[in-house]
Amino acid sequence: MYGWLVALHLVGLAVFLLAHGVSMWVAFRVRGERDPRVVAALLGLSAHGARVVYLGLALLGVGGLGAAAVAGSLTRPWNVASYVVLTIVLGAMFAIASPYYHGLRSALDGTGGEPPLDEDAMVARLRTRRPELLAAIGGSGIVVLILLMVLKPG
Ligand code: HEM
Repeated sequence: MYGWLVALHLVGLAVFLLAHGVSMWVAFRVRGERDPRVVAALLGLSAHGARVVYLGLALLGVGGLGAAAVAGSLTRPWNVASYVVLTIVLGAMFAIASPYYHGLRSALDGTGGEPPLDEDAMVARLRTRRPELLAAIGGSGIVVLILLMVLKPG
């Protein structure tokens, strides 16, 4: 049972990384684009990837928590540390990434009675260091989570 749950956890990690890799790549790639239709298409791709991200996170969570429950280590320090790290990274994603990219998609579509964003306004909004910030926070989170999983300190 334990082995199957660990396998589910690792499959979840792989699904998460593959799906979120799309958003990571798009975040950096769109900054060099000048055609609003191309930017909208790339952001659409990222939104599709983001849906699969939740499937990966669900498998990762069920497998990881299940394996920890079977091993009786749900409250051991490395597991508690991983809940904290994941909560911080998710909080940062919802605060820094989601509003910006959702807002940009809506602005490019021209929803809410507003005309679609023109090229100059779009280029101005794309001038942001958000991808670097997300990569720093999310990348550190991934490294720390993997270290906690492998080294099990404490
Ligand atoms: C443990 C690591 C990470 C977790 C758990 C995580 C989780 C999430 C979640 C839950 C979302 C919200 C998706 C939505 O709006 O529905 C998101 C969005 C996003 N994340 Fe991460 N993320 C991580 C690492 C990273 C890294 C390393 C980057 C690198 C740039 C990144 C870039 C983004 C971007 C660009 C979005 C917005 C996607 C969009 O709406 O198109 N994330 N992340």
